[in-house]
Amino acid sequence: MASANDTITKLIRAAGSAAARESESEAEPEFSMAVEWPVTAKIGLGLEGAIASETHIGYVNGPKGRLSYCGHDIFELAAESSYVETAYLLLFGKLPTSPELSAFRAKLNAYRDLNPETLNVLRAMPVKQIHPMVALGAGVLALAATDEQANVTTVEAETEAAVRLIAAMPSITAAVARLRCGEEPIKADPQLDHSANFLYMLTGSKPSDEFSRILDVSLILHADHGMNASTFAAMVVNSSLSDMYMTVGAGIASLKGPLHGGANEQVLYTLEEIGPVDAVKAWFQKVRQDRKKIMGFGHRVYKAYDPRARILKPLAAMLAERNAVTKPLFEVADKLEQLAIEELGKEKGIFPNVDFYSGLVYQAMAIDTPIFTPIFAVARVVGWTARVLEYLQNNRIFRPRATYVGPVRVKYTPIDQR
Ligand code: SDX
Repeated sequence: MASANDTITKLIRAAGSAAARESESEAEPEFSMAVEWPVTAKIGLGLEGAIASETHIGYVNGPKGRLSYCGHDIFELAAESSYVETAYLLLFGKLPTSPELSAFRAKLNAYRDLNPETLNVLRAMPVKQIHPMVALGAGVLALAATDEQANVTTVEAETEAAVRLIAAMPSITAAVARLRCGEEPIKADPQLDHSANFLYMLTGSKPSDEFSRILDVSLILHADHGMNASTFAAMVVNSSLSDMYMTVGAGIASLKGPLHGGANEQVLYTLEEIGPVDAVKAWFQKVRQDRKKIMGFGHRVYKAYDPRARILKPLAAMLAERNAVTKPLFEVADKLEQLAIEELGKEKGIFPNVDFYSGLVYQAMAIDTPIFTPIFAVARVVGWTARVLEYLQNNRIFRPRATYVGPVRVKYTPIDQR
């Protein structure tokens, strides 16, 4: 009988083959060469089309719906790699050797448990009232208090802080999740790998190999994604030579929004709001009539099916088959996808993005909906820090301009004459 691991790998491989069939096999990168600075680009609102930096880290091929990290195709990494190995790849630009991977794992293990100062900050917050992303941000900033090198902005010191954040953010998220439910945070289990330990710290019980692998795959898929809003926010902060903790705090702040990472939580609420599967059509027509956005659809760069959603969908389907709560929601999602692609796919290039199916995967693993976006942050901290570290090697402060379109030469009116 095939193990859960084999089944998951097969699903990922099948998704990869479908992606290859539907896009030409040799994906032609859009920005594949070094540019001459200053670069000429056509820039739209929201900096659409602007090029902020050169990178070796990751490439999003929007027209074809392909994604790679340091040249490695995302389907290959999801099928073969682990989150920890992928994190090493993104941070250091190459796959680790066996001793390098062991040393990296040991370092992550050493940084997992939260110090009392950080736990005190989390305990002092009204975690039941605030969004867990806010608590996660506060926890990250609290970590800085116990890093003597927090203010040192050399590549070496910031790399060390990055590794510490990669290790500690799952622990902060788990502590916040538990405090929200009135439960005590628990210590890491050094026998467990990154994702298995994260699930353990969230739930308090040892997770199955299947859940651990699925979460690990999801973290790989969320690890990096070009110059998205939160990565850019992190880069802008670090470009002033602030520090890695404030930088990651900026990433968390940006990711929280429903147009970005916050969409995964909103998708779940949408699916619950729609109700039974035969209500999807009327709901969709009403949303289109009201010109509202459908959460989990559309993307600034992808004008094709998001390759990450290609993997998350069959994983959600597999888990939903065995989960009475997730199953009807998955059916609603599937129907909504069909209607949205029919109407918006070809014409507007709007397809499901990474946030559409991730929440169903997490829900089927009994994770609370408000914790979905912190899980995205737990994964993306690698992309933020890797790109910041790359840029730091040849840092220049970010400082675009706004075109002034307001009035000029306005005379000052004394307050009693206004
Ligand atoms: C993430 O950038 C990244 O890489 C992000 C990310 C990552 O890994 O870091 O991939 C993660 O943030 C995924 C996106 C999560 N957000 C959502 O799912 C929210 C819903 N989607 C959108 O609001 C929107 O598609 C964005 C924010 C993702 C992209 O916004 P853009 O590029 O500014 O596009 P837009 O809002 O200007 O829309 C362009 C057109 C409009 O139609 P027209 O006015 O031209 O007729 O597409 C339509 C929009 O109305 N459109 C949608 C739609 N998204 C875009 N119509 C209906 N539903 C949608 N979801």
